[in-house]
Amino acid sequence: MAVVAGVNGRRIVIGVTGGIAAYKSAELVRRLRQHGAKVRVVMTAAATEFITPLTMQALSGNPVHTSLLDSSAEAAMGHIELARWADAVLVAPASANLLARMMLGLADDLLTTLCLATEAPLFVAPAMNRVMWTHPATQQNCQVLQQRGVKLLGPAEGEQACGETGVGRMLEAEQLLNALGKYWQQGGLVGCRVLLTAGPTREAIDPVRYISNHSSGKMGYAVAEAAVAAGAEVVLVSGPTALVCPNGVERVEVETAAEMSDAVQAHIEQSQIFIAAAAVADYRPAAVQAKKMKKDAAELSLPLQRTEDILAQVAAAANKPFCVGFAAETHDLEKYAQDKMQRKGLDMIAANQVGDGLGFNADDNTLMVLWQDGKQEIARADKSIVARELITLIAERFHAQSTS
Ligand code: PMT
Repeated sequence: MAVVAGVNGRRIVIGVTGGIAAYKSAELVRRLRQHGAKVRVVMTAAATEFITPLTMQALSGNPVHTSLLDSSAEAAMGHIELARWADAVLVAPASANLLARMMLGLADDLLTTLCLATEAPLFVAPAMNRVMWTHPATQQNCQVLQQRGVKLLGPAEGEQACGETGVGRMLEAEQLLNALGKYWQQGGLVGCRVLLTAGPTREAIDPVRYISNHSSGKMGYAVAEAAVAAGAEVVLVSGPTALVCPNGVERVEVETAAEMSDAVQAHIEQSQIFIAAAAVADYRPAAVQAKKMKKDAAELSLPLQRTEDILAQVAAAANKPFCVGFAAETHDLEKYAQDKMQRKGLDMIAANQVGDGLGFNADDNTLMVLWQDGKQEIARADKSIVARELITLIAERFHAQSTS
């Protein structure tokens, strides 16, 4: 199955209203997940008469949201959080009633409130009887919604549940999947090959001990996922982590800095962008003991030697790709990041302050992104959200540089 790259890694809220076409949204949710999207479902009261929330829960892998006043669902993920979480909201099927309520800007149930509260792109897939569809009220509602930026998918023409034939059928799940994919396929990195490093490296001391750090790989993996979502082909050279390889990403697993360097060198020629998010060990033991060391001495000194600076080597190459480094600092963030960017000859650097639940092995991050003549801060958020903003910036700077 070829992945519909545009939806891979996207967070999509599917809104379901009451209509016989609700059965098609079950298939849509299943197909979206198959293609790597993260899906949450919001159902109106009428929708639950046509298809059960349990079905949607099983297919989406998440609890289904049905009511603004459900305190347990609100506690888990409130409607404003859900509105912010979404990369897109697609209402499928969208009944005539829902379209009218959206046009009026009503917020009288969870779904209409969500449509009003989200800044994500809004799609609607209308489904209704042909006379209701062609009614001037519905047509006018759709026109106003489109003027406000709502994207209309369908409806199609054909046999209807009421036995009539005409325009008003909801598009098939596959058509909706492709429409969403196409929307994002216009992402900023379509056709680009991106090489990334992520996670820690481990430098052996003896057969049972090693030098490493607290990197979990979460930041690098999130950036890999965001790059795929932006249309890139992604190779991820990963140190040891407990993470699952994101959909659509080719992963090369390594352990040491030397192995990471070799894997990067093997893929760098085909890459237009190199992003080094790994926390590579700066030193390795000068000699690896063949047998487990005995702890006889009260003190022990280990001679260390520098590891290869993978990023600096890539950035120094004659036909270097667009190079993005990371810098994790406990203090003087901007000063050290600027220094690293200049010293290593980078196009961009993403600096993160570590500590306070940020940076290493945390779910959240915040970044100060610097490039030769600019700077932008990315506010504290889940690493997946931060990663998407970073990829948007990288795509902008990469294209600006290749056209200058
Ligand atoms: O993995 P997580 O738990 O999600 O944490 C994410 C992170 C904090 C590890 C990540 O966001 C991050 O900041 N990574 C870089 C860590 C760092 O401080 O790197 P550095 O200052 O040692 O190196 C600067 C840059 O050179 C980095 O892009 C690094 O990947 C690269 N480097 C460093 C040394 C080396 N031998 N080779 C390299 O390529």
